[in-house]
Amino acid sequence: MRRECSPVRRERDAISDADEAAGTTASAAVAVEVRGLNKRYQSGFTALRDINLSIRRGEIFGLLGPNGAGKTTLINIICGIVTLSGGQVRVAGYDIQRDYRETRRRIGLVPQELTNEAFETVWTTLTYSRGLFGKAPDADYLEGLLKDLSLWEKRHSQMMQLSGGMKRRVLIAKALSHEPDILFLDEPTAGVDVDLRRDMWNLVRGLRRRGVTIILTTHYIEEAEEMADRIGVIRDGELILVQDKRELMRSLGSKIVTLELVRPLGQLPEALARLGVQCEPGGRELRYHFTADGDAGGVDAVLRAVQQSGLTVHDVHTRESSLEQIFVRLVGEQPGDAQ
Ligand SMILES: Nc1ncnc2c1ncn2[C@@H]1O[C@H](COP(=O)(O)OP(=O)(O)OP(=O)(O)O)[C@@H](O)[C@H]1O
Ligand SMILES: [Mg+2]
Repeated sequence: MRRECSPVRRERDAISDADEAAGTTASAAVAVEVRGLNKRYQSGFTALRDINLSIRRGEIFGLLGPNGAGKTTLINIICGIVTLSGGQVRVAGYDIQRDYRETRRRIGLVPQELTNEAFETVWTTLTYSRGLFGKAPDADYLEGLLKDLSLWEKRHSQMMQLSGGMKRRVLIAKALSHEPDILFLDEPTAGVDVDLRRDMWNLVRGLRRRGVTIILTTHYIEEAEEMADRIGVIRDGELILVQDKRELMRSLGSKIVTLELVRPLGQLPEALARLGVQCEPGGRELRYHFTADGDAGGVDAVLRAVQQSGLTVHDVHTRESSLEQIFVRLVGEQPGDAQ
C-alpha cells in the first residue's frame, strides 16, 4: 500500500535558518507547516502524536478522521486557540507562538461549536470581528459577504433571533470578515440544510479561485471527494496518510466489472475462476474486482475467457469504490497496518 510521506519532508527541509529569522518560508508555496507536533491535554490525554504536515498555498485540504481523532485539536492549535505541547507550527512562514499577531490575522476559522454573541446584531458582529484584526472598515465587502451567504435580510437581527443554520452562516461570514489568506472549516456543514451546503461550497470554490488556502474537516466524505485536492487522515492522534485525492482513489480504490449473461450459468468455467471471476448466486452475473492501478490486462483476459467459454453477455456495468469506502477501510485497519 503506497503512502505519500516524502513530499512533506522535502518541503520541511526547504526552510533555512535565514528564512526562519525573516519570518518567510523558502518555499512560498507552503501556507501552513506543522513539524513534530504533539498535544497532551492537562488531563494527561495525548491527543496528537508527532504530526508533520505541509499545507500548500491555494489548495483545498480535506482532513478526515473518526470522532475524537484529533482534527479539532490540530486546527485549534494552528489557529492559536489551543497551546501545543511540543513541535512547531508556522503559518505563511511565521511561528504561531512567537509571531502570533502575524499568523492570526492571516487565518479565518469557522469553528465546530456555535459560539455567538446572543444580543449583538449580525452586522455589528461582523464589523467588530473585522476590526479585531486591525482591518479598515469596508461596508461593501461585508455586504457582499452577507449576500453570498443569504444573510443580508437578517443583518439587523440579533444573533439569538437566528435559526441554527443562520448562526452557522454568520460564523462563516465572521471567519471571512477580515479577508484571511487561509480558511479553516471545522465541520461547517454538520446539521445544515441542502441550501447552506450548496452556498458554502460555492463560496469555497470562489475563495479558492482568489487563492485562499482552505483546510476542511467533514464527516460527509463525499464532500471531501468533491472538493479536496489532497486528503489527510488522522486516527488516534496520528496522521496516517497524506495524499493527492485522485492518486489515493487510484491506488487504494477498486473497481468492479459486472457482466450480465444472457443465459444463467450452472457452473463457473475453470478459465474464469482462475482469473478471480466470481459468479453470483443464480448464475446470471459474473463479477470481477480489480484495483484501478494494478490490473495489467486483467479485464481484457476476463473478456477473452468469457468469449472462449462460449458465454453471451447481455450487459456490462462498472463501479468504482468511493472515497468513503477507502476511508472506512483505512480507519478500520489496526495501528501498524498502515505503515
Ligand atoms: N480540553 C480537553 N481536555 C482533555 N481532552 C480533550 C480536550 N479536548 C479534546 N480532548 C480529547 O482529545 C481527543 C481529540 O479531540 P478532538 O476534538 O480534536 O477530535 P475530533 O477529531 O475533532 O473529533 P470530532 O470528529 O468528534 O469533532 C478526544 O479524545 C477528546 O476527548
Ligand atoms: Mg472536531
